[in-house]
Amino acid sequence: MDHFLYRDGALFAEDIAVAEIAAAVETPFYLYSTATLLRHYRLFDEALDGLPHLVCYAMKANSNQAILRTLAEAGAGMDVVSGGEYARAKAAGVSAERIVFSGVGKTLAEIRMALAGGIRQFNVESEPELEAISAVAVSMGVVAPITLRVNPDVDARTHAKIATGKSENKFGIPIARAREVYAQAASLPGLKVVGIDVHIGSQLTQLEPFEAAYKKVADLTDVLRADGHEITRLDLGGGLGIPYTRSNEAPPLPTDYGALIKRTVGHLGCEIEIEPGRLIAGNAGILVSRVIYVKSGEGRDFLILDAAMNDLIRPAMYDAYHDIVPVVEAAAAVELRPYDVVGPVCESGDTFAKGRQMPPVVAGDLLAFRSAGAYGAVMASEYNTRPLIPEVLVHGDQFAVIRARPTFDEIINRDTIPPWL
Ligand code: LLP
Repeated sequence: MDHFLYRDGALFAEDIAVAEIAAAVETPFYLYSTATLLRHYRLFDEALDGLPHLVCYAMKANSNQAILRTLAEAGAGMDVVSGGEYARAKAAGVSAERIVFSGVGKTLAEIRMALAGGIRQFNVESEPELEAISAVAVSMGVVAPITLRVNPDVDARTHAKIATGKSENKFGIPIARAREVYAQAASLPGLKVVGIDVHIGSQLTQLEPFEAAYKKVADLTDVLRADGHEITRLDLGGGLGIPYTRSNEAPPLPTDYGALIKRTVGHLGCEIEIEPGRLIAGNAGILVSRVIYVKSGEGRDFLILDAAMNDLIRPAMYDAYHDIVPVVEAAAAVELRPYDVVGPVCESGDTFAKGRQMPPVVAGDLLAFRSAGAYGAVMASEYNTRPLIPEVLVHGDQFAVIRARPTFDEIINRDTIPPWL
């Protein structure tokens, strides 16, 4: 459930009409709902009720400072995957003991940064990384808490580009080699093994792959404990999918997911961490855009929007489906028409939807892309020197621009002309 609902034919974000915000902030822009973010965070938190746990929001989904602070104030930890994300989490006021550091390619500088500023744990993905963290920790005279991310060789049944738990993927340590690598971790100075980490992919719409992976983690916990390792934490990753269409999808709910976690690993006495990103931020955001032209093509009509693939790359990159809805609905029932919905960028991949059935649209109309709060703004670029679009956060009947659109001068002045020119 989200807080983007129609009232008398006008799309509202919580208690403000989206059209009113569009009049104040030029389109295109991202618009987020505080109530939806908090609702989703709390669903996870409550789903793990009864187990010691921490919900570490995967901030790669949406890392705006205002979003991070909203979630951190509600009690969330953060899952970071770069020095930049670590710095963002700290700047938003997240305490070090609530930050976990994931990712396959942590640099020495990033490891140093996290050890200096404090970290709950590193989720380590390879032997060379284990050695690097050990060396940096020893050189700094500190001990680095670590888990090893195991690759359970489970098919997440999601888009190939966002599946991470099969043996052919670059992620984690093959579960069959886990004992060996845990033994190595225990023998290295400057490391403290605290648990096991697993993450099998994103936009999972079934629970079975999670169940298969978590059962393997439970078995591994027993084995590693028998080997003498202290396994006190299990980081179970993120990945629970969201409905991108209103009608035909019903992915499992956080409560079902929580029950599954309790069933598979609840008996182990471990502290549970999860790293949801998309489910917290995805349906808490929309992208608001205006139709520049309606162009009649060969047997089709194009809606040419002021938003483009550089603002929302998911359709071009993953053939992702986003609902596109009018910000002001037609007064009477109307017949739907097919449109190709495109942006102004100079390539055919700049297509949001083909033959999408929509109520008749005219130039100047406002449209909203739903489910754009996760992996939207964070994946945007300035391709075609199109400025990164603003982000706006709604809270009840208030709204605030939480990232302003840069001016052309700001963009241009980031370049430097070398002395020989
Ligand atoms: N933990 C780790 C280690 C991850 O790699 C990810 C996502 C998450 C947690 C959060 O997964 P979520 O709960 O958001 O599914 N750009 C793609 C999604 C990439 C996901 C990458 N890793 C998209 O737009 O669909």
